[in-house]
Formats: sequence, structure tokens, C-alpha cells
Amino acid sequence: MPITTCVFDAYGTLFDVAAAARQAASEPAFAAIKDDWTAVAEHWRLKQLQYSWLRAITGAHTDFWEVTQNGLDWALEKTGHHEDAALRKRLLALYWELQAYAEVPEMLAALKSAGLNTAILSNGSPEMLQGAVNSAGIGDVLDVSLSVQSVGIFKPDASVYDLVGAHFGCTKDEVLFVSSNGWDAAAATGYGFTTAWVNRSGEPMDRLPWTPAHVMQNLTGIPALAGV
Ligand code: LAC
Repeated sequence: MPITTCVFDAYGTLFDVAAAARQAASEPAFAAIKDDWTAVAEHWRLKQLQYSWLRAITGAHTDFWEVTQNGLDWALEKTGHHEDAALRKRLLALYWELQAYAEVPEMLAALKSAGLNTAILSNGSPEMLQGAVNSAGIGDVLDVSLSVQSVGIFKPDASVYDLVGAHFGCTKDEVLFVSSNGWDAAAATGYGFTTAWVNRSGEPMDRLPWTPAHVMQNLTGIPALAGV
């Protein structure tokens, strides 16, 4: 079956999650993280994801904004910046206006002009996704942002991936699912999507029962994978 529908994870895949800490570190008011902003960003991201998995496993779902704040609070304490309320506020504000990776607008435009469906499928709340899409200026090349909010559980629960077929009326084998999160690309492979893992930083493959069909360094090759 040809690919009709290209679906993207949001954070880390279309939007650069390290951009918030990088931007704050470049501002004189937040020079405190000038030397360890990468540690702040990495701890923040890892705890945000761990909390999402733990909440999914235990049935303790909440808004992704809450786990994003919880992850940041852990990261700031870990790096010794937890008394800097202004820094916390700035980092959280920046999360609503993350930059998209440079190749994103052109890649999505190529898919749209070939008549394919394009979507985000994300843990993010609808409001967070709207903020990021608007600030990246990619709303006109995306058909929809599908949020886990409507199913009340985070990825990689299968009911999240079900949102794609429910929205577009397509079968699993028409979908190319793209994620920079190895675990997300792996689980979506197990679900039945054709998958591409965007491995920008040369991470090892996750040891899980499913292997993504394609591995890429960035998003420029996605239109070709989708047959465009
Ligand atoms: C998302 C996270 C997992 O956008 O990156 O769903």
C-alpha cells in the first residue's frame, strides 16, 4: 500500500527541545546556566519522558504540561538551579515557542504539495502544540495536531497510535510515522506503521522487540521515503 499519511512526533522530532535551555543560556539574565545548559536540557527531557511512561503504566494520567514542569523542577534541583525562580519561568515560557529544525517547513511543504496527509501525533496538550506550531509558522503545511489528551494516556500506548486511523480513515500500512525518540519509533513499528527513526545525534538503537524500518540523520529524506 502506498504511503498516504505522514505523521510526526512533535518534541525532539519537529521541534528542538534543547532550544529552550540554549536560548536562555545565551541571555545575560540567565548566565547561571551558560556552562551547564546542556545538562539542564538533558535531565529535563529525560525526566519529562520517564514521568510520562510512569504515569501511563500506573494509570495516573495528567496534562503533558504538568510532567514538563515536574521534569524541569527535577532537572533544576539536580543542577543546583532550583532557587532561580526567574530561570524556571523563562525556560517554561520558551517551551511554548520552540524552534522547528531548519528543514521542517520545506519537508512538510513537499509532502503537502504531493497531496499527502500530514499530522503531528504527540503527548503535548493541544494548547502546547498550537503554541509550537504557530511559533514555527508551520500551521499551513500540517493538516492536524493529534494530542494524547483525547485518549487520556501517553505514548506508547496503542490507543494513541489509533488516533491516526480514526482521524484520517486510513489503514496502518498507509502511514509513515516519524520520531526522533527511538522508543516511540520502535513502539509504532510494533503497532504496524512504517517507521523512520530520526537519529540526529548518533544514539545507539534502543534494545526493544521492534526495529524501525528506516533510520535517518535528519528529516530531509522523508519526502523520498513517502514516495514523493
Ligand atoms: C511527543 C514527545 C514524546 O511529542 O516527544 O509526543
